[in-house]
Amino acid sequence: MTSRLPSRRLILSQSAAVIGAASAGLLLPQTVRAQSGKVRVGFMLPYTGTFAQLGVAIENGFRLALEQQGGKLGGREIEYFKVDDESDPSKGVENASKLVQRDKVDVLVGTVHSGVQMGIQKVARDSGVLSLIPNAGVHAATRSLCAPNVFRTSFSNSQPTRALGKAMYDRGAKTAVWITWKYAAGDEAFEGFKEGYLAAGGKIIKELGLPFPNVEFQALLTEIAALNPDAVACFFAGGGAAKFIRDYAAAGLKGKIPLYGSGFLTEGVLAAAGPAADGIITTMHYSDSLDTPRNKAFRLAYATAYRSQPDVYAVQGYDTGLLLIHGANAVKGDFNSKPALYKAMESAVIDSPRGKWTMSKSHNPIQDIYLRQVENKENKVIGVAAKAMADSGAGCKMG
Ligand code: PHB
Repeated sequence: MTSRLPSRRLILSQSAAVIGAASAGLLLPQTVRAQSGKVRVGFMLPYTGTFAQLGVAIENGFRLALEQQGGKLGGREIEYFKVDDESDPSKGVENASKLVQRDKVDVLVGTVHSGVQMGIQKVARDSGVLSLIPNAGVHAATRSLCAPNVFRTSFSNSQPTRALGKAMYDRGAKTAVWITWKYAAGDEAFEGFKEGYLAAGGKIIKELGLPFPNVEFQALLTEIAALNPDAVACFFAGGGAAKFIRDYAAAGLKGKIPLYGSGFLTEGVLAAAGPAADGIITTMHYSDSLDTPRNKAFRLAYATAYRSQPDVYAVQGYDTGLLLIHGANAVKGDFNSKPALYKAMESAVIDSPRGKWTMSKSHNPIQDIYLRQVENKENKVIGVAAKAMADSGAGCKMG
């Protein structure tokens, strides 16, 4: 029940010392506040840099889900707080601490970049704040470092690519070069790709990489031309993905060496990439063209609200909103009822534009992975690459 007690003001200092303590791993547990007044929701997302558009799409999707439910959580009004995490892992703990210690959010929604997520994960585990991951796929968050208060609504980094290798092999690609940004998201996407492609019979002749968010692809594209594999597979996202697609075509590789990828390659970038993107085949837990009433209604509502087309990031933000609504309703807005809140979220069936999905024991979506091909600035579904795919959750002791 929603308590009518006057809210107890927190005595925590908001000084830089708190942030310092947080960075040193000395976070105090969240003080239990009376559950009256507004629910405090904190967005920690990239609003600048190569992932800026991803952050905006996630926030838009989340707000749309809440607005469609009358703008309340379990009957309570919402107050939003925002931090631009700049996709900078070195500021991850400090930025998450700002939301938790200074703004005293009830729930932290974030983020996109796997390295930054590790900072959030530390703060979430130390403070106990409810942490909803609307994108970053870093394995540890729902494997060795899993936690009862951390839920992911997106994917684990190896989930989309595990189904890619077989699709490539079946299309005649017996040899491949892999290329990515060298950080957790790219490395773990490679893990999934490697597993599926080798099992299908493929041979990986070279792994190429460059540091995030570097976009100087030229030397690597020259190397790919020299290696002349049957196909190229990759992980890139956001602004960097649009540039990679254009540079790949400009280097004369399009039409000669088919380009495949984890579906992020072609999400939210098709207008910027133009015809250079046509024909690219990817695997992903969503597609614009899913022909379901649920997806169509979502796309129309999003386009009407934001005058832009939604992508997978918008869907993930939307589903984060749906999951939170489900939990908040189950406890009538009392975020202190943690066991009941977590239990409701664990057993939720999310009726998503991507199709219905459920939570694994380690709090990661169990979901279908679609095979898509870019046609006319759209990711068109050409098959289902994997049904009800779950992450292994290896090392997670929950459940
Ligand atoms: C990540 O860093 O986990 C990440 C970033 C962007 C994506 C997917 C994963 O599109």
